Amino acid sequence: MKIAPSMLSADFSNLKVDIQDVVDAGADYLHIDLMDGKFVPNLSFGPMVYQRIRPFFDLTFDVHMMIDSPESYIEDVSNAGADIITIHVEATNHIHRAIQQIKQLGKKAGVAINPGTPVSAIESILSDVDLVLVMTVNPGFGGQSFIDTTLTKVKQLAVIRKELDYQYEIEVDGGVNETTGKQCLEAGADVLVAGSFVFNHSNRQEAIRLLKAE
Ligand code: DX5
Ligand code: ZN
Repeated sequence: MKIAPSMLSADFSNLKVDIQDVVDAGADYLHIDLMDGKFVPNLSFGPMVYQRIRPFFDLTFDVHMMIDSPESYIEDVSNAGADIITIHVEATNHIHRAIQQIKQLGKKAGVAINPGTPVSAIESILSDVDLVLVMTVNPGFGGQSFIDTTLTKVKQLAVIRKELDYQYEIEVDGGVNETTGKQCLEAGADVLVAGSFVFNHSNRQEAIRLLKAE
């Protein structure tokens, strides 16, 4: 089980130090949420923000693009130092082309689905992706409650992967805590994104340990 603390819940006035703190606490990936105010009703930050801290860290930068027509920004997101680039199937008419664009840049490619989107919407792209991100809240904000019905999709993705011998990691994002994290693990998730649970915990090492407990 990998843990990906979400930078959205970090202290932006002290970003480098706060990220170092979760790295020291045992983070596997750094999850980075880009929002455009259109695909989701919120704005966060652009690639130049994580570009500035990239040289100080070795861990995987896992960039989650909550952006309409992501094709226009994939190159910038890549150049700024992303390792995994995940785009939403709902945000593009050309998911296959956009996934190939990411792979041609030498990055790992992920596809994300909102809580209302079925697994069937990404079935044809599953053989091509390195990661599938199942949103367990409606994207746009940290600190929301986990939506239980999304667990069915995690299970479906685990079954499909096994049956067809696909290689993608299954990542869940939103409302992950000790309890919901365990449910995701049992359903077949490999990567837990956790924003508020890790960053707001009085002992972040303990928070990550709780999430990793298998
Ligand atoms: C929500 C983002 C998440 C968010 C998760 O749109 O994609 O990554 O930071 O925050 P928590 O873990 O607090 O729900
Ligand atoms: Zn995210």
